[in-house]
Amino acid sequence: MIAKNMISAVEGGSAIRKMFEEGNRLKALYGEDNVFDFSLGNPDLEPPKEVSDALKELADDPKPGMHGYMSNSGFESTRAMIAEKRSSESGVKVEAGAVCMTVGAAAAMNDVLHSLLDPGDEVLVLAPYFMEYNNYVANHGGKVVIVPTGDDFMPDLNTIDSYITDRTKAMIINSPNNPTGVIYPEEFLKGLNDLLKSKDHVIHVISDEPYIDLVYDGCKVPPVLSFIDNLIICFSWSKSLSLAGERIGYTLVSPRNEDYDILTAAIVLSNRTLGSVNAPAIWQKVIEKSLYAKVDVKNYEHRRDILYSNIIDAGFDSVKPSGALYIYMNTPKGMTDAEFAAVCAKQNLLLVPGKSFAKEGYCRLAFCVSEKTITGSRKAFFAIAEELGLSHRAEL
Ligand SMILES: Cc1ncc(COP(=O)(O)O)c(C=O)c1O
Repeated sequence: MIAKNMISAVEGGSAIRKMFEEGNRLKALYGEDNVFDFSLGNPDLEPPKEVSDALKELADDPKPGMHGYMSNSGFESTRAMIAEKRSSESGVKVEAGAVCMTVGAAAAMNDVLHSLLDPGDEVLVLAPYFMEYNNYVANHGGKVVIVPTGDDFMPDLNTIDSYITDRTKAMIINSPNNPTGVIYPEEFLKGLNDLLKSKDHVIHVISDEPYIDLVYDGCKVPPVLSFIDNLIICFSWSKSLSLAGERIGYTLVSPRNEDYDILTAAIVLSNRTLGSVNAPAIWQKVIEKSLYAKVDVKNYEHRRDILYSNIIDAGFDSVKPSGALYIYMNTPKGMTDAEFAAVCAKQNLLLVPGKSFAKEGYCRLAFCVSEKTITGSRKAFFAIAEELGLSHRAEL
């Protein structure tokens, strides 16, 4: 018999994955062009040229020993470059020793939570949130405490305060946010720091940042390092360089973190003992050569605009995302998210009900899909709106 908690976890499965499989089934039945699958956030743009140039260069001019074991925290040269970048963005001097290279953000979060949590410790998350946090926290014996946000998805400091207990060890923030695309402003970060520092024990902020480079309309993401002291950043190039399958990211502990010395050492040890040992050598070297590169963010912005117009013009409501790769549209009044998703599926339009992000009354659509799919979906949104008796705001 396998572990009891794994039996229930396997039975629960993932709603997003199930939706992905349903998309493939419908595509086989009706053809690729007639299915509008917005269920999965798999970045579909190719990595920028800097990445392929770096790979070629590394293959043509291999460094002796490059593929051998290394320090568990990664190459000193890669970590120093990241520290330098973060220092100049935030004005807070970061050393290479603050950085540990990881196998993407998922491993980064696991390394951090493994380092922080004693059994039963509580981790605050702001709903709606990326549901894998539940697994990451449970992996290390912690307990997720869900803090609600407002209709604009912005967190409220008094509400956060009301969820803090003696067992609160950490809080996860994710801005730009999956699934809403909202960016938390500087005032919120400052207020959060004051609130957490007013408590009589250390509460760490884990800033999960896979989307900080994907922002639109000229918006800026305030550098958390400037505003939060007991901070640990978890970053990943899965989205900003479209390297989701390659698994490369890092953790960075703020030099102002009260547990800096022991925490940086614990994260490196966790990286080793949890099994990844170190991040892939070749990708660390690629990152050195493409640290300032990004995917074509304007392309994502354009797709967001088309999808958002389809939703609004058909007669639905939604907050317009300022970043990330998702629109968290409102489910029409008088029906559940699952009922709405079922009506959408009849038009071969797939989205993920809000239950998967712990804030119901909404459904998530990922716009990292082809422009053809987004443009083609307009008629489906209009047909769904008609079936539900909504008035269109524009012509088809
Ligand atoms: C909010 C959030 N955090 C973490 C991750 C995991 O990122 P990675 O691919 O780097 O493990 C994702 C992936 O979609 C995400 O959306």
